[in-house]
Amino acid sequence: MSLSGRLICDCPSPGATRRLARQLGLLAMPGLVIALNGDLGSGKTAFVQGLAQGLAVPPDCYVTSPSFTLINEYPGRLPLCHADLYRLGEGADLEAIGLLERIEQQEALVAIEWAEAAAADLPPDHLAVHLEITGARRRRITLTAGGRRTENLLKDLAAAWRQDRISA
Ligand SMILES: Nc1ncnc2c1ncn2[C@@H]1O[C@H](COP(=O)(O)OP(=O)(O)OP(=O)(O)O)[C@@H](O)[C@H]1O
Ligand SMILES: [Mg+2]
Repeated sequence: MSLSGRLICDCPSPGATRRLARQLGLLAMPGLVIALNGDLGSGKTAFVQGLAQGLAVPPDCYVTSPSFTLINEYPGRLPLCHADLYRLGEGADLEAIGLLERIEQQEALVAIEWAEAAAADLPPDHLAVHLEITGARRRRITLTAGGRRTENLLKDLAAAWRQDRISA
């Protein structure tokens, strides 16, 4: 279902979550910032694995949670910059960890787990992705656009997701 600037997807399996994210990876433009939030184990890293597929990150670059390294980077159609702010907690300083620079360069797709820890540092036109655990294998994923660029992206993603539902 798509309201203006918002897409809510019911993902009944990890595969569905990855397919949704893969579509987003296929559509993503340089400089896109994706802010992922949701409880432990809700599927933030699984979502980034799908993004990597869509960006054609080589399969031998397996995407894992950058819990200790804070930032991992993978080559692809666009570089995928994957951060996890869990360890930094509230008031995380994106400049101090070099992530702000990466965002400002507008070259990579920057995906940030636990992004709410650095809410003040995020560019306004980012895509917010909220994952909720609605069953053992089910997640409700709400994607919200922060501006014009991400709103257009969401329209394309909504169309691709409808197609995926039809063919599933
Ligand atoms: N529909 C679903 N979508 C995504 N993951 C699912 C789904 N159903 C079950 N899972 C499982 O939930 C777990 C999600 O783990 P993942 O590491 O992606 O979560 P996370 O949000 O990154 O956790 P953390 O907060 O620890 O970083 C995986 O084991 C995955 O297989
Ligand atoms: Mg994770």
